[in-house]
Amino acid sequence: MFKHKMHWHKKQHDNDETHQHSHHHDAREFDAHHRHPFFEIRNLSVHYHSNGETVYAVNNVSLKLREGKTLGLVGETGAGKTTIAKSILRILPEYAVELCEGEVNFQGKNIFDMNSAELQKLRGGNISMIFQDPMTALNPVKTVKEQIAEGYCYHHNCSKMEANRHAIHMLSTVGISSDRADEYPHQFSGGMKQRVVIALALACSPKLIIADEPTTALDVTIQAQVLDLIKDLRDQTGTAMILITHDLGVVADVCDFVDVIYAGRIIESGTKEDIFDHPSHPYTRGLFAALPDLKKNVRRLSPIEGLPPDPTKAIEGCAFYDRCPERCEECLHFNNELFVVSDGHYSLCCKGGAKKCQH
Ligand SMILES: Nc1ncnc2c1ncn2[C@@H]1O[C@H](COP(=O)(O)OP(=O)(O)O)[C@@H](O)[C@H]1O
Ligand code: SF4
Ligand SMILES: [Mg+2]
Repeated sequence: MFKHKMHWHKKQHDNDETHQHSHHHDAREFDAHHRHPFFEIRNLSVHYHSNGETVYAVNNVSLKLREGKTLGLVGETGAGKTTIAKSILRILPEYAVELCEGEVNFQGKNIFDMNSAELQKLRGGNISMIFQDPMTALNPVKTVKEQIAEGYCYHHNCSKMEANRHAIHMLSTVGISSDRADEYPHQFSGGMKQRVVIALALACSPKLIIADEPTTALDVTIQAQVLDLIKDLRDQTGTAMILITHDLGVVADVCDFVDVIYAGRIIESGTKEDIFDHPSHPYTRGLFAALPDLKKNVRRLSPIEGLPPDPTKAIEGCAFYDRCPERCEECLHFNNELFVVSDGHYSLCCKGGAKKCQH
């Protein structure tokens, strides 16, 4: 984890000069993005019902992503990451959902307003998803070539032969040779299965990939390989990505922007530089303290005292209050508005800055 962090810091230094030169261009891009974002979630709330109780999984989450950029969504287990991912493509388990409200706008259209035919076209076409467990995406009774070809055919309306050829090409892109194309998912190892899923996800040249902990279930030795593959393919295709993870090292390695999520809320949002070099929210600063400190050779196991709040209790005010080492009188009046730390860097904390965010 630490290695990733170091690596990123070095890269950041190398890029300092280019950053300054492209400042005006960036400013224009920034304005355009804020007028017509390529992808945005607005005020998403998702509540489940479970054993007669309401689970407040996602609470008023808003985020934006520019074309071709990668956003890291980082937070602990239970923070609401998967729920956000599934909301985007409307694949939440309907029986368990008590409330799902907000907007998910993709290229100017609200996904929540789409009919089922439009949604079918979107899924696996313009937006595809990679889950933690590869078997979520794979059909156990079809060969890997068949499944990739089928999806391609559906979205491109091409001949079976052409689709098969494309499937074999996609498999080779992820390092699977054509002589394994007619095998079934169970014949592949975990890492190879996830490669098949990546081939499947990229087969229709999506504009956006949502990857939910894509390497978490794999052997540690394989994790880096699969992550590098995702990174390389993303760089080659220019696909935008939302990468969900609880690993800050992965974020440092792969992302342009970072949203930190806690108790179903985005508590800090900014560029990778903002979050890594100037973490502002007390929770984010706690996360960084949890990184192993190689110099002191200490691994702090429970860096932030206490536990995340009970998700079955609705929270008024700051969700981090009970654990926050910086809480004070003023925090009791905090009504969950974003504060501006610096341009494009926001914190859901009344000590984040002076101005309130306009978006
Ligand atoms: N089907 C479900 N029914 C009830 N509660 C759920 C369901 N899925 C997730 N949750 C709850 O919603 C909250 C957010 O879960 P999830 O989105 O999976 O978080 P993450 O992916 O960050 O670990 C958790 O409290 C979790 O227990
Ligand atoms: S609002 Fe107060 S309690 Fe909440 S994170 Fe900020 S300082 Fe801590
Ligand atoms: Mg999850």
